[in-house]
Amino acid sequence: MPPTVPNRLNPNSESEPALQALIVRAEHALDRSLPPVGQPPTELHRAMRYAVLGGGKRLRPLLVYATAHALGEDGRPLDAPACAVELIHAYSLVHDDLPAMDDDALRRGRPTCHIVFGEAMAILAGDALQALAFEILAGETGRSADAATGIAMLRCLSRACGAEGMAGGQALDLAAVGRPLSLGELEHMHACKTGALIRASVQLGALASGADAATRDVLDRYADAVGLAFQVRDDILDVEGESAVIGKTAGKDAAADKPTFPSIIGMDASRARLTELTDLALAAIAPFGDRACLLAELARYAARRAH
Ligand code: IPE
Ligand code: IPE
Ligand code: MG
Ligand code: MG
Ligand code: MG
Repeated sequence: MPPTVPNRLNPNSESEPALQALIVRAEHALDRSLPPVGQPPTELHRAMRYAVLGGGKRLRPLLVYATAHALGEDGRPLDAPACAVELIHAYSLVHDDLPAMDDDALRRGRPTCHIVFGEAMAILAGDALQALAFEILAGETGRSADAATGIAMLRCLSRACGAEGMAGGQALDLAAVGRPLSLGELEHMHACKTGALIRASVQLGALASGADAATRDVLDRYADAVGLAFQVRDDILDVEGESAVIGKTAGKDAAADKPTFPSIIGMDASRARLTELTDLALAAIAPFGDRACLLAELARYAARRAH
């Protein structure tokens, strides 16, 4: 069953129509960026499109667009970085769900990629999505007047998905199964496996907007708080969410003996931490004033989303 509300953020917020339009923009850009199904290798292309299209909140592309908006630079070419980070995210989900990792059968309300296409094709789809992300970003770099900025964007995304970022965080996650972690170790693991791509989304938006280093440092404080909040909320939803709403199998973390925020500090303290992190994120972007309204809405959304 598809998630009940796959693409709606907060229908009560003033920013909702703007964010909704940006989701549609990201969906179109992703669709255009993926290889057509009619072209061989057909099965690989189908698996790639299945993994990316048809669900997903598009938080990372939204962060790219919202960051440029906060900097008054909406007119810059942003679709390439927005797609690149979402393609990396989609690849990370395909591999995260594999039997060798979390062994999950449900994702975005549908059977996971390896359930539909088989493990080998899911591994290859993940590999190809990763390569496509860099091809798209490099293509943009080639067109950009400022090659140094393009190279900085490529470096930013590669660091975020490598051993110091998402892949490293996933390794820490697997090594932590059944082993009690300290709160500091847990936060470090979350900062890598989830936070790194969220930070990169904001950084890509900032680099594409020509932001200076001091501005990017301020935005890092926002992104680090949002990234951690996003994974704390993910851990909470695994405990109290319903599979039909979250679009993935609830209760998997406890069943797999994964260290999570609720398992280490309890549910009440996890909720308190979410509030604290949202306040930190909002304080960091206060200097941008009203222009940061989309970033502010995304910070609130990360902490209270229902799926
Ligand atoms: C799920 O990410 C994996 C985590 C990093 C917590 P999302 O919750 O952003 O997944 P989609 O893209 O909306 O399906
Ligand atoms: C996944 O974390 C993080 C990445 C895919 C990098 P989880 O394993 O908690 O994500 P879900 O709950 O399966 O979406
Ligand atoms: Mg996992
Ligand atoms: Mg998982
Ligand atoms: Mg999870």
